[in-house]
Amino acid sequence: MSDALVAYVNNRFVPLEEATVHIEDRGFQFADGVYEVVACFGGTFLDLAPHLDRLQRSLDAVAIAMPCPRPELEALLQQAYARNPFQDAMVYIQVTRGRAARAHLLHEEIAPTLVITVRQLPQPSDAKLAQGAVGITLRDIRWKRCDIKSIALLASVMGKLEAKRAGADEAFWTDAHGHLLEGCATNILAVIDGVLVTHPLDHQVLGGITRHMALQIAAELGIAVEARPWRLDEPGLSECMLTSTTNAVLPVCRLDGRPIGDGRPGAVTLRLRARMVERLRQLSERGRHG
Ligand SMILES: Cc1ncc(COP(=O)(O)O)c(C=O)c1O
Repeated sequence: MSDALVAYVNNRFVPLEEATVHIEDRGFQFADGVYEVVACFGGTFLDLAPHLDRLQRSLDAVAIAMPCPRPELEALLQQAYARNPFQDAMVYIQVTRGRAARAHLLHEEIAPTLVITVRQLPQPSDAKLAQGAVGITLRDIRWKRCDIKSIALLASVMGKLEAKRAGADEAFWTDAHGHLLEGCATNILAVIDGVLVTHPLDHQVLGGITRHMALQIAAELGIAVEARPWRLDEPGLSECMLTSTTNAVLPVCRLDGRPIGDGRPGAVTLRLRARMVERLRQLSERGRHG
């Protein structure tokens, strides 16, 4: 399958199998780079502007230049989508500081490396949707700038391994006070006394684009929303859900071996998911026929 795939690297599109970066690329040596993942439905990118705004913020935070003007990047993303065989895709953008002899501090100007790859957008299975995801909580071991979408994902990989060992789908990080922060690659929200609650945006969480969409949809549906630290043992907690570009909204029905609420996907979660999935379906349909 990957034979047919095309990636963008070193300023050109090449078959994925031939797409390589140099061993002295700072992404490889130092994880000196940032990334984005954008969903594309039938040729229409979902929330492209907020994704590229976040890419710009991540780049600014680590002082890496945007590799090309934004309209050019948007055109490259369209081309990358068009050159790959997926109706609904996840498009991965990675920017590193570039290639240089290995030294923490650089003394010369180098050009950033831009990589774009495209894969099928995964769909949660029907069983997962019906039963909900299973999670564990772990004390956060990550750095203190989780608002930057850094390619340094070792802690997230460790968290995912730990989740797998426990038979869970995702590990959710907690702070020293037991507040739920976010998952390894997802945000987490809860319904507490009917209010949709999620950790406020700060250095401990990534400002998820899907999190934002879920909060917006909740407001449209008349569901109260509150961004505040929250704990699993709060009375009145009836539902949990995760959000991400690749999952949209997904119920989380068990955490640390215990059921959330009655252990089944909750009504608020299902309403949010239904509204979001409907929007995504419309985008995909528009792309197909438009
Ligand atoms: C740590 C972390 N939090 C949250 C998210 C969800 O962000 P988004 O909804 O923009 O995909 C991701 C996505 O990769 C992530 O890695």
